[in-house]
Amino acid sequence: MEQSQRLPNPPDSGVFNALRFVRSPLRFLSVMQSQYRDGVEVSIPAGPSIVVVTNPDLCHEAMDRIADFSRVPASGAAALIAENGLVQTEGDLWRRQREAIAPGFGGGPLETYVDSVGAQAVRLREEWGDAVTAGQTDRNLHRDMTTVTVRAATQALFGTDIGADGASEMHRLAQGAASEFELSVTTITPEWFPDRPSSDAREVAEGLKRMGEEIIATKRSSGGANDTPSDMLDFLLLAEQSGEYPENHLRDQVVSFLIAGHETTALGTTYTQALLSWHPEVRERVRAEARDVIGDDEPGYEHAEQLTYTGQVITEALRLYPPAWAVIRRAQGDQQLGQYVVSDGSLVIMPQWSVHRDERFFDSPTQFDPSRWDDQSPDERGAYFAFASGPHSCIGRGFATMGARVALATLTRDFDLDVPRDELSDLLVTPTLRPGDGVRATVSPVD
Ligand code: HEM
Repeated sequence: MEQSQRLPNPPDSGVFNALRFVRSPLRFLSVMQSQYRDGVEVSIPAGPSIVVVTNPDLCHEAMDRIADFSRVPASGAAALIAENGLVQTEGDLWRRQREAIAPGFGGGPLETYVDSVGAQAVRLREEWGDAVTAGQTDRNLHRDMTTVTVRAATQALFGTDIGADGASEMHRLAQGAASEFELSVTTITPEWFPDRPSSDAREVAEGLKRMGEEIIATKRSSGGANDTPSDMLDFLLLAEQSGEYPENHLRDQVVSFLIAGHETTALGTTYTQALLSWHPEVRERVRAEARDVIGDDEPGYEHAEQLTYTGQVITEALRLYPPAWAVIRRAQGDQQLGQYVVSDGSLVIMPQWSVHRDERFFDSPTQFDPSRWDDQSPDERGAYFAFASGPHSCIGRGFATMGARVALATLTRDFDLDVPRDELSDLLVTPTLRPGDGVRATVSPVD
């Protein structure tokens, strides 16, 4: 029987530390990571504690035990969006949903997704070429990557390309949602604490729901699910015919995948390209691999597996800039985690941001060095968990990693990007780690 003890408390009062966390979350996490081996508990009088877990083994344990460490139900603005989507549900409903849509992430849909990413990246490459010819070399890289990923995701998940206008609207709504969801005091308050959504949050939620409804209407008008489902929405429609689901379930699911299906991937490819611009020697290797593997072919699924060095580059970029900066759970009842007791209701934070940058687990942790993945797999349950682990781990991981390889190789084959050095130094901490105002880049063609 393991001995139980409490995690240490940091110096200064709990309230003071909680405010430090809200004001400057990444800094707070890094300081806790460097000072506490397994974790730390910030005790708040008359409120639930905040527990930061700094030991990856304990992070995996908490992520495995989904009944003991459950998701934090959305409140305030977040509750307006996709309440019944897979990203937010729990228990039996979540399990049925996950089983129903899993085939939507298998071989056929994965091929469709990666091929669509290839086609969208070629379209963007042509757009960059035209812009350069017209003397316009400045781009908002994050917007460009959003367009590529959202158009590919809607094609593969829902069987419809929302087009350039839809992608632009999606970018606007996602920016709006991000500013509403920036980490704030309500993140660390109990769930019953009143957290009223603003009118801007309502406008964003309405816009997303409208988009979700249009996607479902398009699918239904094209015959809806048939005997040979080929995308996730087909599988969802089939499941709805044979099971009981809450009202608005379908729309919530589509909205939640509209966001989950593109946002993190757009961020990941944006961060990777910024890092490539600061490491020309790595960029040259990505370019050489792209020329070798893709050459002058239409880029797509058939190339993804072979773009292995590009895969390492993406893994390394997601280590340093994990779009999902932390997995957050709430303890259900008093729980034992390793040798520690975590009290009922504690907010439990498993921070990819700081675990990925801990020198106990990675040599020269702040250095961008894709070769560290030469003999190490990101799939091992170690200190790397950009896609989380356990039952709620990312269902879209294959889409994200294979799609990103093809997007990066396609763009890097023909273009150099120049991203200002400080462009990622002030990221917003929302449910994802985002650039506030896009990422500026100058594009120039290579011979
Ligand atoms: C670089 C890209 C991506 C990253 C870093 C990422 C990361 C994550 C993480 C950390 C989680 C766990 C969240 C938690 O348990 O609190 C997660 C879950 C999830 N992701 Fe991703 N993701 C990415 C791409 C995608 C894509 C492309 C899709 C869909 C096409 C997707 C769909 C989901 C869904 C639906 C869940 C919830 C799964 C469940 O609870 O069963 N993600 N992702």
